[in-house]
Amino acid sequence: MCGIVGYIGAKEKKEILLDGLQELEYRGYDSAGIAIIEGEKLSNFKAIGKLENLRHKTEAYHSEGFGISIGHTRWATHGKPTELNAHPHLGAYSYVVHNGIIENYQELKEELQADGVTFLSQTDTETIVHVFEKFNNQINNPFEAFEKTIEKLHGAYATLLITEAAPDTIFFAKNGSPMLIGFDGEDVYFASSDTPIIGKANEVYYLEDGEYGFVKEGKVFLFNAEGKKSFTKQALTADKVSAQKDGYRFFMEKEIYEQSYVMTETMMGRVHDDSILFDELDENFFDGISAIKICACGTSYHSALASAYLFERLAKVRCDVEIASEFRYKEPLLTKDTLFITISQSGETADTLEALKMAKRAGLRSLSICNVDNSSIVRESDAAILTRAGIEKGVASTKAFATQTMVLWMLALYVGQEKKTLASDILKTEVAAMLKTPKSLVVEEKLHAQLTRMSKRYLHGHGFFFIGRDIFFPLALEGALKLKEISYFHAEGYPAGEMKHGPIALADSTLFTIALMPKSMHYDKIKSNVEELSARDATILAISPEPFELADDFIQTKYDSHPMLEYFEMMVVTQLLALEISVRLGNDVDMPRNLAKSVTVE
Ligand code: F6R
Repeated sequence: MCGIVGYIGAKEKKEILLDGLQELEYRGYDSAGIAIIEGEKLSNFKAIGKLENLRHKTEAYHSEGFGISIGHTRWATHGKPTELNAHPHLGAYSYVVHNGIIENYQELKEELQADGVTFLSQTDTETIVHVFEKFNNQINNPFEAFEKTIEKLHGAYATLLITEAAPDTIFFAKNGSPMLIGFDGEDVYFASSDTPIIGKANEVYYLEDGEYGFVKEGKVFLFNAEGKKSFTKQALTADKVSAQKDGYRFFMEKEIYEQSYVMTETMMGRVHDDSILFDELDENFFDGISAIKICACGTSYHSALASAYLFERLAKVRCDVEIASEFRYKEPLLTKDTLFITISQSGETADTLEALKMAKRAGLRSLSICNVDNSSIVRESDAAILTRAGIEKGVASTKAFATQTMVLWMLALYVGQEKKTLASDILKTEVAAMLKTPKSLVVEEKLHAQLTRMSKRYLHGHGFFFIGRDIFFPLALEGALKLKEISYFHAEGYPAGEMKHGPIALADSTLFTIALMPKSMHYDKIKSNVEELSARDATILAISPEPFELADDFIQTKYDSHPMLEYFEMMVVTQLLALEISVRLGNDVDMPRNLAKSVTVE
């Protein structure tokens, strides 16, 4: 979750960059840096820690006249938060900033090192500037060199590059990570979201994946795989709050759409072709551990429940999950061969924190999975894995849940790998599926429109049942919680096989059943469960890759070969359904009644 800014023009550049970075600082504050080229003069400053450190460092510096400039605020992924790892990264005569991940950086780095290039940092980003200079040294054409560089990069990126070889030009490319271009007459701005340029630019163009190009003399030259292309600017709002929503109606909506991108961040540096790595865990972390206990609340508890299936199935380690507020007072029996995991978006949830303290008093090793570094739960734990979802503003959690689930899936594989309980071919299959996750989370306009239309049929009735089996049962619980939180309808998640043991008594035409029917897991079993409900006239909304003739409403999903991909795709459907029902009801989507984002009371 880093932030990028750029500016080309005659205004004072240092202040534009620092002010822009200030707006993005919440995305990462491990280090920050700027690079400016004015004619022959090249200036570069970096500082670790908060942006104010960079401000101090640059106090005596002022830019003058026309120039090009880029800046970055970093949230460390590849390599520690040091000045050397801070962006912009330098080649011999060029600078680059980058958000995202260059998946093939190791391979590119080895090629460059074989050519005698020395790397100063541990980052994937530095490869971009060296690849660029290698090409430019051969062909002496900065744009072609940049184009060839982009062709070489695999992964998600938003990047800006400046070079003394073209001191009047900024080169840019976007694929998978957000970036936009702002305009004010001849002045051109870049940023990874629109807040840094509000009040500076009045028009904006949001770059699409696969687009790249350069800016020179106030003009943007834009390209994609088909060649040069035209583009249409749009007016930029002057209102910071709506800007933070980046054009979405609600933070929750924005956060649902962001899931695909943040998932890439969650995996960055951790998921490799045939292994999972967690720099956060030392190699002996799982020694002596033969069981896992997880404690959490609410949505975080649901991600924990899903992971229990994965820990047992993939890592072959016993795993049980408890609601933190229940765990605290049950006088639990704890043994030291148990790893105690807490999951929390905020890292401040009182019940979860107290459960952790209890486990620590009992001498258990602890690990937290959290979205907020330096939070109480992170500080209290022996080790922590950050979910990297970025700030979540919608009270109803979406991307935090998605990234928690992803970290837990990775952790299950990691434990299996470390304990050698997971066969390498299964690990490879899982990793291959994992790498497809960001795609499974992309929200398609057509799907969103379908759910918007469909939502009008679900504004009454006496309740909702979300049903699923296996990992889709916790997903059903989460779908029901989302709907409950923002629609205020009664909704319950249930294991599909349990309906006939009582709840089916409620079935009638105004009992809405949201059936999660994955193709890759127990399809025939859940199908029979849903048929039983349909026979009792329950209204069925089926979510499945397989058409289901008894469905009153049907959402056809695309993934059908791996349960986790089906899981994430269906998760998005349930989130959007809850959102659109809430919008129709006129509720406050981002701040639903009676709730708070961080529950620091018991
Ligand atoms: C629901 C939601 C809550 C939280 C719960 C725990 O959308 O956000 O159920 O999951 O209050 O909070 P954290 O994860 O911060 O410990």
